[in-house]
Amino acid sequence: MEDMKDIQWFPGHMTKTRRQIAKSLPLVDAVAELLDARLPGSSCNPEFAGLTHRKPRLVILNKADMADPDITARWVQHYRKEGCAVITCDSKSGKGIKTFAPALRELLADQLRKYAEKGMKGRPIRVMILGIPNVGKSSLINKLAGRNRAKAEDRAGVTRTQQWIKTEDGVELLDTPGVLWPKFDDQEVAVRLAMTGAVRDDILDREALAARLLTLLHTEYPAALQERYKIAPDAEGTGFELLELLAKNRGMLLSGGVPNTERAAVTLLDEFRGVKLGRISLEKP
Ligand code: G4P
Repeated sequence: MEDMKDIQWFPGHMTKTRRQIAKSLPLVDAVAELLDARLPGSSCNPEFAGLTHRKPRLVILNKADMADPDITARWVQHYRKEGCAVITCDSKSGKGIKTFAPALRELLADQLRKYAEKGMKGRPIRVMILGIPNVGKSSLINKLAGRNRAKAEDRAGVTRTQQWIKTEDGVELLDTPGVLWPKFDDQEVAVRLAMTGAVRDDILDREALAARLLTLLHTEYPAALQERYKIAPDAEGTGFELLELLAKNRGMLLSGGVPNTERAAVTLLDEFRGVKLGRISLEKP
């Protein structure tokens, strides 16, 4: 896309993450990867499997409160088939958080049995949280930590900056989550992340972004557009023409009656991100 070629990715971040993960990996029993339930594919780092070797993996579909529940259910099946443990949650309200520890216990059942046989019963499960920026890592850690936000003791082999946070269910979290970076080279991924606001949208052409979002919504969620913007499900036209229609229907006009598509774009993006159009997913498995 012409107007999107200025997106800058920072592969340097991945180098730092790679080092950090490699150092912490031997200390944890499992890795928990946070994905945005609205776009699990685009919020997933393709290097993840290579970075974490064969550590048991818990996929957390976060922001499930914003995503289409039917599609989220399909993603859960998808990741289960891949052999991962999966939970869905809303780290802002805390809904679904209670399933975190039981899912880990099930994922690590064999290992926990071995520990128990060796007399290491009650040994905490140690987990590292990974995810791209803004996916909700800090929110999740805060919710899981609850009243125990005060840090647990240092442990041998962990640098001073890395400490453990005890949760209420016998799970310990590395307090520094690994920041993964989204796929650098895929423009489609960049566009979808920008739609959710995960990527700063001032480096993108906002009207082009909104036009892309409108096209997607017109196909997948026509009723939502009808209800909120009076855009008929059978309306025809390009994404930009739909944006003009949105501007007209909302009375956003410049002098001479020209649709103010810039304002319409801001409105659409804000309202989509604020879940004013309902719970919407941008990707299916
Ligand atoms: P990060 O550490 O991975 O970078 O993400 P962080 O927890 O800072 O969360 C980024 C934003 O996403 C925050 O919003 C946070 O409240 C929101 N968020 C995280 N998890 C969920 C969720 O499951 N559901 C919803 N609806 N929102 C979630 P913010 O606008 O930056 O801050 P705030 O105004 O909410 O405090």
